[in-house]
Amino acid sequence: MKIFITGANGFLGKKLSLRLLEQGHELYLLVRKRTRLDSFMNKEGKGYSGQIHIVEGDVTRQNLGLNAELLESLTGKIDAIYHSAALLSFDENDRDKTYKVNVDGTENVMNFALKVGSPRVLYISTAYTVGEENAGSETLYSADRSFVNPYEASKCEAEHLVYGYREKMEVVILRPAIIIGDSKTGEADTNFGLYGFLKGIKILKKRVERKKDNQNYRIFLDPDVAQNFVPVDYVINVLDAALFHSENGDIFNITNPNPPLQSEILSIVKEVLDFPELKMHLLSSNGEMTNEEKAFHDSMSIFNSYFQRTIDFPTEHTEKMLTAAGVPMLEMDREMLKRIIETFLMNQARVPL
Ligand SMILES: NC(=O)c1ccc[n+]([C@@H]2O[C@H](COP(=O)([O-])OP(=O)(O)OC[C@H]3O[C@@H](n4cnc5c(N)ncnc54)[C@H](OP(=O)(O)O)[C@@H]3O)[C@@H](O)[C@H]2O)c1
Repeated sequence: MKIFITGANGFLGKKLSLRLLEQGHELYLLVRKRTRLDSFMNKEGKGYSGQIHIVEGDVTRQNLGLNAELLESLTGKIDAIYHSAALLSFDENDRDKTYKVNVDGTENVMNFALKVGSPRVLYISTAYTVGEENAGSETLYSADRSFVNPYEASKCEAEHLVYGYREKMEVVILRPAIIIGDSKTGEADTNFGLYGFLKGIKILKKRVERKKDNQNYRIFLDPDVAQNFVPVDYVINVLDAALFHSENGDIFNITNPNPPLQSEILSIVKEVLDFPELKMHLLSSNGEMTNEEKAFHDSMSIFNSYFQRTIDFPTEHTEKMLTAAGVPMLEMDREMLKRIIETFLMNQARVPL
């Protein structure tokens, strides 16, 4: 098949591209700057250059910024589009930019799909379009609910936009939870979600080491709240299965049916970093914080709403599709999670000394 991918040089985009290349598909990879794909072309993509067309463009521009000649040459050639490009910022100050990329950008991608006659668009959304609710579904959420941040709100609005095209082409919505490293190698090329948290703890440890006061340091988290982590290779399994085993209007939660508790996540982090002074306390037991504790919690404030609640995400649609595709559901155990956390903390998380 001929497949067009936006956000092709992102964390997910590169993994998805590699999987589709291995299966023999011909890919059109949209990137804002061709050079951003250099390391992919020289490493993972090496040997596949005959299957890759790099397309320079920007989702915030009409026709993705492609000229008439290029549009004409793509018309009738594309069998499916994966729309993965997005701005992943939880910052209220980035609201306008976030909407520009995630909502206007999605509208431009849908219009581009119509223009070039792509029969299918697979939109990569997020499980957190559920907003402030504690239970999700594999249906379109109402857009007038409360959201934790502009990112969630923009992705929900984009889902509605995509869904509105289902009379004109086939659309599928895929909703990953918090994407973490590869289940087998542990490797992850991102600083988002879990990785911001891990980096914060590594910085806290450095500060504590400098003080040499043998004191305990508190992290205010509810041990019984679960975090919905999904390894990137599992996410790719679902995106890949959806190419042949989904129907128009399908919505899939790419979530972990047995998400790890915060107590387990922190126990792994302490073990890997050899950081026994780190103690978990309930938020309600908040007292005076030390400067180090305060610096850590301030830097994590954008995640507060996620730290405080477990969200239930049903996965019946995803399970049914994976069964049809002969792909197993995710089973993440402590060992797998430890491998992913350890790979990042030991090899990738660079923090100032
Ligand atoms: N990572 C997660 O935990 C997670 C969880 C749930 C859902 N998702 C969704 O999964 C998708 C991929 O996320 P990711 O983790 O791969 O993020 P990422 O690594 O930040 O990749 C985002 C990609 O979007 C591209 N992009 C941003 N603005 C663009 C524009 N104006 N025009 C064209 N491309 C643009 C970026 O290109 P540049 O390199 O040029 O900036 C980058 O390639 C997103 O839709 C995200 O909402 C991610």
